[in-house]
Amino acid sequence: MRYLSGIQPTGRLHLGNYFGMIRPAVEMQHQGEAYYFLADYHALTGAAAPGQLAGLVSETYLDLLACGVDPEKAVVFRQSAVPEVHELAWYLSTVTPMGLLERCHSYKDKVAKGIAASHGLFAYPVLMAADILLYDADRVPVGQDQKQHLEVARDIAGKFNEKYGPVFKLPESIIREDAGVVPGVDGQKMSKSYGNTLEIFAPEKELRKKIMGIKTDSTPVEAPKVVERSTLWGLVRLMGTEGERAEYRGRMEKGGSGYGDLKKSLADLVLKEFEGMRKKREELASDPKRVETWMKEGAAKARNTAEQVLKRVRSAVGTQK
Ligand code: ADP
Ligand code: TRP
Repeated sequence: MRYLSGIQPTGRLHLGNYFGMIRPAVEMQHQGEAYYFLADYHALTGAAAPGQLAGLVSETYLDLLACGVDPEKAVVFRQSAVPEVHELAWYLSTVTPMGLLERCHSYKDKVAKGIAASHGLFAYPVLMAADILLYDADRVPVGQDQKQHLEVARDIAGKFNEKYGPVFKLPESIIREDAGVVPGVDGQKMSKSYGNTLEIFAPEKELRKKIMGIKTDSTPVEAPKVVERSTLWGLVRLMGTEGERAEYRGRMEKGGSGYGDLKKSLADLVLKEFEGMRKKREELASDPKRVETWMKEGAAKARNTAEQVLKRVRSAVGTQK
C-alpha cells in the first residue's frame, strides 16, 4: 500500500494543518510506504511574494520533520525536485475535459477571493493528478477541501486508461473526519487566509497571547459554559490525555472558572502537546547539513519511482523512450 500526500509551503504550520493532515500522515508512514512532498509548483498559484518560496520550502520541511514525519521511513521531497511531473501533467491535460476543470469549487472560490484567474490556477487539478499518478499512489490522505481534486484525479486516470490501456492505478482518497474542522481564534475554520491561526512553532509568548485573545461569549465566571461548538473545546478535544480533557470539560460545565483561566489552561495544554516537537525543531534547525542530506535522499528516491512510471507512460503514448 502506497500513501501519498502534499502540502503547499505557503506559511508556518498551524494547529489545523497538524491535526487535519500531519498527524494522520505521521501515523500512515508506519502502515505502508509513504510519499510526502512540499507542493512548491502549486504554491506559485497563490499569493506568496516573489523571493519567498525557497525559504518557505526549507521552513516547512523542518516543520514536517519536527512533527514526526520520518525521512528514513517516508520519502519526503519537494515537488520541484522531480520536474518530470510537468511532462506527465501535459499528457494528462490532453485527456482532461474542460468541463471537469470548470466545475472545480477550489478554482471558483479562489477567483472569488480575488486571486488572479491564471491558467496555472485553472490547471491546478491536472498537476495534482500528475503528482499522484507519477508515484503510483494507492491512497491519498487529504482534508475535506481536497476531496473534489481527488475525484478529478481519478477521472483523469480513468480517461487516460480508456484511451491508452491500463497504465494507472485509480487512487483513492482518505478523508479524515475525526479531526473535523479545527477552529481558529475567531471561531471560524483555522486558516492562513483568515489570519486566525495558532502556529505550532511560534514563540511561547506569542502563542499564549493569541490563545488569550480567543473570542468567547459573555457568560459570567460562575455560570456553566457552552461546551459543544465552542472554540475552546474545539481545540482541547484534540489534545492531552483523556483525564485532562475530562477535567477541562468538567470545569466548563460546572461554572466557577472564567474564560481567562480556561484560556490559560488551554495555552498550557497546547505548549505541553507540542513541547517535544518544538525542541526537535530547534535541534533540526541547528544541523542544516543533516537536513540537506535527507532532502537529497528523498528527492533521489522520488525521482527513481517517477522515472519508472514515466517509462510506462511514454511507451503508452508513443513519445521518447
Ligand atoms: P490553510 O487553509 O491555512 O491555507 P492549507 O489549505 O494549506 O491550509 O491546508 C493544508 C492541509 O491542512 C490540508 O490537508 C487541509 O485539509 C488541512 N487543514 C488546514 N486547515 C485545517 C483546519 N482548520 N482543520 C482541519 N484541517 C485543516
Ligand atoms: N492541493 C493540496 C492542498 O492545497 C496540496 C497538494 C498538491 C496535494 N498536490 C497534491 C495533496 C497531491 C495530495 C496529493 O492542500
